Amino acid sequence: MMAQGFPPRPWADPELVGWRRLPMHAIPRAGAAVPLDGEWRFQLLPSPEAPLADWWARAAVPGCWTMQDFDDIHGVKDKPWYTNVRMPWPGPPPLPPDANPTGVYERDVTVPAGWAGRRVILHVGAAESVLLVQVDGVEVGVGKDSHLASEFDVTDIAVAGERVTIRLAVVKWSDASFVEDQDQWWHGGITRPVFLYATDSLYLSDIRVTAGLADGAGLLRADIQVRAADGVLPAGWHVSGHLGGTGELGPDQAYAGELAASERVSEWLGLARISAVVPGVRPWSAETPALHDLTIRLHRADGAVADQARYRIGFRTVEVVGPDLLVNGARVLIRGVNRHDFHPLTGRVLSHADMRADLMVMKRFGFNAIRTSHYPNDPGLLDLADELGFYVVDEADIESHDHAHELAGDSRYLAAFLDRVSRMVLRDKNHPSVIMWSLGNESDYGANHDAAAGWVRRADPTRPLHYEGAIKDDWHSGRAASDVICPMYPSIGQIVAHATASSPPDRPLIMCEYSHAMGNSNGTLAEYWRAIERTPGLQGGFIWEFWDHGILQRVADGRPAGATAGTTAYAAGIAAPGYRWAYGGDFGDAPNDGAFCADGLVFPDRTPKPAMFEHRELAAPVSIELLTSGQVLLRNRQHFRDLTWLAGQWTLTVADGEPRGAAAELPPIPPGGAAAVQVPAHLAAGLAADGEAWLTLRITTAVPHESLPPGTELCTPQVCLRPERRGLPARAGAVPGGPPVVLDADGLLVHPLLAAAPVLSLWRAPTDNDRAGGAAARWEDWGLVSPLRTLAGVTRDEGQTVVRASYATAAGPVHHEQVLSPLAYAGGNHGLMIAETAVLPAGLTDVARVGSVFQTASTLERAQWFGRGPWETYPDRASAPVGRYDARADDLFTPYLRPQEGGGRGDVRWFTLTGPDGQGIAVHLDEPRQVSITRYGAADLAMAAHHDELIPRDGHVVHLDAAHRGLGTASCGPDTLPPYLIGPGTYRWSWALRAL
Ligand code: GAL
Ligand code: MG
Repeated sequence: MMAQGFPPRPWADPELVGWRRLPMHAIPRAGAAVPLDGEWRFQLLPSPEAPLADWWARAAVPGCWTMQDFDDIHGVKDKPWYTNVRMPWPGPPPLPPDANPTGVYERDVTVPAGWAGRRVILHVGAAESVLLVQVDGVEVGVGKDSHLASEFDVTDIAVAGERVTIRLAVVKWSDASFVEDQDQWWHGGITRPVFLYATDSLYLSDIRVTAGLADGAGLLRADIQVRAADGVLPAGWHVSGHLGGTGELGPDQAYAGELAASERVSEWLGLARISAVVPGVRPWSAETPALHDLTIRLHRADGAVADQARYRIGFRTVEVVGPDLLVNGARVLIRGVNRHDFHPLTGRVLSHADMRADLMVMKRFGFNAIRTSHYPNDPGLLDLADELGFYVVDEADIESHDHAHELAGDSRYLAAFLDRVSRMVLRDKNHPSVIMWSLGNESDYGANHDAAAGWVRRADPTRPLHYEGAIKDDWHSGRAASDVICPMYPSIGQIVAHATASSPPDRPLIMCEYSHAMGNSNGTLAEYWRAIERTPGLQGGFIWEFWDHGILQRVADGRPAGATAGTTAYAAGIAAPGYRWAYGGDFGDAPNDGAFCADGLVFPDRTPKPAMFEHRELAAPVSIELLTSGQVLLRNRQHFRDLTWLAGQWTLTVADGEPRGAAAELPPIPPGGAAAVQVPAHLAAGLAADGEAWLTLRITTAVPHESLPPGTELCTPQVCLRPERRGLPARAGAVPGGPPVVLDADGLLVHPLLAAAPVLSLWRAPTDNDRAGGAAARWEDWGLVSPLRTLAGVTRDEGQTVVRASYATAAGPVHHEQVLSPLAYAGGNHGLMIAETAVLPAGLTDVARVGSVFQTASTLERAQWFGRGPWETYPDRASAPVGRYDARADDLFTPYLRPQEGGGRGDVRWFTLTGPDGQGIAVHLDEPRQVSITRYGAADLAMAAHHDELIPRDGHVVHLDAAHRGLGTASCGPDTLPPYLIGPGTYRWSWALRAL
């Protein structure tokens, strides 16, 4: 029987990283287990030492109690709490606060009668942050690390055929919280499955599979660790292996089958090794995720199988050679994204289907790499990454952000650093997808890191190390802990300067975080990629981040909607009526960091934001360049694949007339190669007409693919065949003439199509970047939000009406002139030409926009436009193709979590807004311009904290911008680049408005 009594206060003892916990291993056991997931008896105590009541509530396992409705017997009321850097309590490490929610889970289970004589293990997938386990009142063990499993040997208590009571106490705040201070919601609970499993008394305790490549052959090696329950290994034990195919085998099948040699490295120590050279193997890569089934069996002397383990392995190599990270010898570009374990209904509890859906979206949008920020993600994620093809930077659960400097070398936390890093490596070492180990995040750099790095370098020499803290202050330093330069949020200038400096980079530069996706963001992503693709030494990076961590919240009572709400409570990025996407502070959590957790490329319901499409185009497997008007150069931008899995479709878009299409033949082009391709003759014939012309190649998947159904659009590269040459009136199809212009007493246009006359606009509803980067405050200081307009004069001359006004700003007046001229259209319709000039004084060095804003008289259902699309673009995030598009007018808007500027379309030449009868308005622009059509004014958006507070206007607020500021990524990282800033000077733009 085990000794009674837990170690005293294990939640306040950093040197205690676990008690009686079994060593971490990579033997998959869930398959043959008794699952314990479901409803457990539950009490939420105010502190770990508070007494239990004698009745129980019920809670789901796995589940965050912060996300569930249960009978709160002790009145603890613990809800989600969001902080970025700061700890939720002020005290110094390692002590937790006295008020410390502690969930006690209890359930009974009958141990299968067939388990007699077997070893019985309790597996708890993950618990936040300290787990104390009792079975039938016996203290069994303690586990720490909220994102790794703990296992305990319960053989002595869990007697076969008998009913036992399992009690799991989960203490929310602990010494461990100080190294789990990641920028995300704090929750409490058991977030991954719980199960019991049994093994023979002779069992596989761990297997390490190494599957490398040399000269086209796979080099397979399995290092096998064998144990016996009583510590005495029976004589004659041995192991065998079987390598099977998965339909992905190379031409030489000779290796498939039994692996003969079982080398008992040390019979006495329980170590054996199997190795094989596998000729002609198909390598694993993110593009070609070829997996092979490997089964390892442990036999007793008589050959009986005592234990076995199954893996899906991939043969590949990873190495850092000079400034390059090589996978299978190739310098692959890392098109990565940071991913948290997140779900808007459960907090952090994920199903396999959830994770698969994440990865499918990433694949669809051109990502090939994931950093598991900032802890080992759910183990199912790595199985999927192996299968679907992703390069993974696997990160240890260490972030001491608020106390980083103190803890990096604090010997009280040395064991925790070693434990967290080594247990991750032990768990995940057999995954081909894992190409680097990360020592954690934002924990400064100290002796504890070097200790962990030393352990990994010996335990797994096959993978490079990654740690941002090691290179943070000096990109030439930190070699002990990082084999890559992996900075956060560097500017393009910085990375290029580093890579092209006279002392050439000795390690690859792969940004661990860049292009912060908070709100309407990811400006200059194209410029990052231009720099990466042109500069040796730069190899890509990981966008921050995949998810907007908005939690679905019931508006009525402010509680998380919880797993029972179902997915009908949201759609297309928007929470359904009665719900909203909650962020920091919405649960009464204080202190908090507001909407800073809503910084992902997908909305909380996984709907992709427009920035995802930008990324998709930049990651395109195929690009085109114009050679002559009848020929393009087609490039295969992949590292390992040919084009046979892709299909292409040409579209010729002309200014007037319907687009023409034709199937595209994709010639056999090897990875990295290019070939000239003829544009089909009948398309070229479409060019006879006058005006601009664009050729687009739509690339889709042609065959069923691991993660993408056939017909999935992957990119739409485009070339301009002929630019626009005509003036605005010609394009609008109008001649001067028509009824005179009507103005009100303030010189504002009175027009039946408009509910609000066009006025000058210099402001936008600040984006998160505008706020964090300081631009929004400057705009407010300058008075650009609603500058006072003063009419300076109206003159009428030969059909032209000139309205001059000035707009008062703190930097001096902005002079604005509108020249309004009636237009006549064939068929008798009338319209107006409006030519505008604005002169910005020298002090207005950085404004949001210069343009016109008006409101239509009625709400019109449908929008059509000729410009960039179909998705939202801004000047520094504008890789969308030029084309003619059609959408529901209300769908143009993008519901970024905290309302802000959104829904813009770039390079618009004309647009129409029409009702079901086809009537409405048309606007032609003198040059390609930024346009937005929303149901909200900029001030409406700026004032709202959530979408449920917004009331759509009757009519559309239309912005036409002579110039619009870039988005940048200043909520964390650099602002936009100088060419995308709007400064002082004279701006001219004109447009034609007509009724349809
Ligand atoms: C990084 C950090 C992330 C997140 C991000 C901002 O510095 O590693 O966890 O906080 O900034 O969203
Ligand atoms: Mg942080």
